[in-house]
Amino acid sequence: MIKGIGIDICDINRFETAVKKNRKFLARVFSPGEIAYCRMKKNSVLHFAGRFAVKEAFIKSVSIDKTIALNEIEVANDRNGKPEIVLTPRIKAVLKLKKGKKLSVSISHTHNSAAAVCVIT
Ligand SMILES: CC(C)(COP(=O)(O)OP(=O)(O)OC[C@H]1O[C@@H](n2cnc3c(N)ncnc32)[C@H](O)[C@@H]1OP(=O)(O)O)[C@@H](O)C(=O)NCCC(=O)NCCS
Repeated sequence: MIKGIGIDICDINRFETAVKKNRKFLARVFSPGEIAYCRMKKNSVLHFAGRFAVKEAFIKSVSIDKTIALNEIEVANDRNGKPEIVLTPRIKAVLKLKKGKKLSVSISHTHNSAAAVCVIT
């Protein structure tokens, strides 16, 4: 059963401007693992923006009053490249509040935008 769904689209130009304006932005929002993953890609901004969209989509999918910081939501890719949100104790606690057991995410990018969807089942 679906317990929550969230979607987000991130405009690449706006995202890139935000990153350039605030040098601490990446370190504040992304984990070292996420930064390493994106940095090894040819066009890293697309991958950062995709992860940013996942974080926003997750927040929408849980839609709870208790706030969760963007840097508490970490995206990792499995050996096939499939993205997933790392199930930290904090994420597990949020899932429990939604009576959810599983989180599924998907990311897509073009040169102009990155989109992500998050589903709790
Ligand atoms: C995987 C695939 C669907 C990605 O589609 P695309 O149009 O090239 O690129 P998109 O921008 O839409 O999507 C990229 C995102 O897809 C996701 N992705 C990559 N591999 C994935 C997989 N096996 N399953 C689910 N999602 C995957 C990633 O999140 C990636 O973004 P990220 O690297 O920033 O995390 C595409 O490369 C494909 O169909 N490949 C053929 C099958 C294949 O080679 N599979 C590889 C694993 S066996």
